[in-house]
Amino acid sequence: MRYVVTGAAGFIGSHLADALVRGGHDVVGVDCFTDYYDPAEKEENARGLDVLRLDLADEPLDLVGIDGVFHLAGQPGVRSFGDVFPLYVRRNLLATHRVLEAAAAAAVRVVFASSSSVYGDAEGYPTSEDAVPQPISPYGITKLGCEYLARAYAAGFGLDAVALRYFTVYGPRQRPDMFFRRVCDALLERGSFEIYGSGEQSRSFTEVGDAVEATIAAMERAPSGALYNVGGGDEASMLEAIALLEQASGQTLDVSHTGAATGDVRRTKADVTRIRDALGWEPRTPLVDGLSRMWSWASGRVAAG
Ligand code: NAD
Ligand code: UGA
Repeated sequence: MRYVVTGAAGFIGSHLADALVRGGHDVVGVDCFTDYYDPAEKEENARGLDVLRLDLADEPLDLVGIDGVFHLAGQPGVRSFGDVFPLYVRRNLLATHRVLEAAAAAAVRVVFASSSSVYGDAEGYPTSEDAVPQPISPYGITKLGCEYLARAYAAGFGLDAVALRYFTVYGPRQRPDMFFRRVCDALLERGSFEIYGSGEQSRSFTEVGDAVEATIAAMERAPSGALYNVGGGDEASMLEAIALLEQASGQTLDVSHTGAATGDVRRTKADVTRIRDALGWEPRTPLVDGLSRMWSWASGRVAAG
């Protein structure tokens, strides 16, 4: 198959593109290398991939000869109030709108990255896809908007779309603004770390290889219009997660606390019954193993300079 992967120079997109190439597929990567974090990291992620430098929010996407689009490009990060909001509108809503238009016109399937942040402080736990979305961050609102746009294109133009709500993905190449990456960097650089709030907030952390498997399964086997949680099996609080990374690294951190971050949810816990029943996918990587691999990557990267 010949697939487009948008966001191919990013954290999850680059792992997805690598896995597709390993599986014998042709991959056309698309990314505009935004400066949300150091574009040099994205160059590193994309090494060996064929990536078109194209801004999906205003440049055309050619889907001739393409069998499916994995749309992972976007502006991530739940701490999204204030001056940055126009970037979320542009890189999530406007870019997704253009991808959906192109895919509907070409009659090509789109599997796209939504987020657990659409649940906000969820109605209940574990949270199923039937819970009423109630996002508490501008980011989550733009992701929910993307889901509704896809539904509208499906209803109006027969678009074949599948939405995946990823839950806090981690592993090698994780974005430098994310918690595990920051904890690894703190262990490697200075020995101290500031947690937002009490540290008792928890997440259904999802290992990136598991997330990639779910994403490919969704392209290959999901019914049109499906919506799935893609969430890890092990839930941990930030304090527990720090203890696991301390164990993996054999070092300790001096932890302090600052105010809770606005837009940050207290808890996520994915109910994955729907995707397990439909696609046979479930998270396989225990958090302790995934974190040990992530530590090896982060420390190896620093050692290599
Ligand atoms: P990332 O920032 O590493 O990757 C996103 C990529 O999209 C970047 O390389 C960026 O340059 C590119 N991009 C942004 N706007 C673009 C545009 N207009 N045109 C072309 N390229 C553009 O983020 P990630 O963590 O790999 O997340 C991938 C996707 O999954 C995002 O849509 C994110 O919202 C979603 N998601 C991520 C997580 C997570 O835990 N990492 C969880 C839920 C959802
Ligand atoms: C992550 C991604 O960043 C979002 O793009 C994604 O959409 C979301 O997962 C999701 O699952 O939908 P988040 O869960 O906030 O968002 O992940 P992290 O940025 O890794 O933060 C995890 C926790 O660590 C949060 O409670 C955060 O407040 C805390 N944190 C983060 C700190 O205490 N200190 C930091 O320096 C960074």
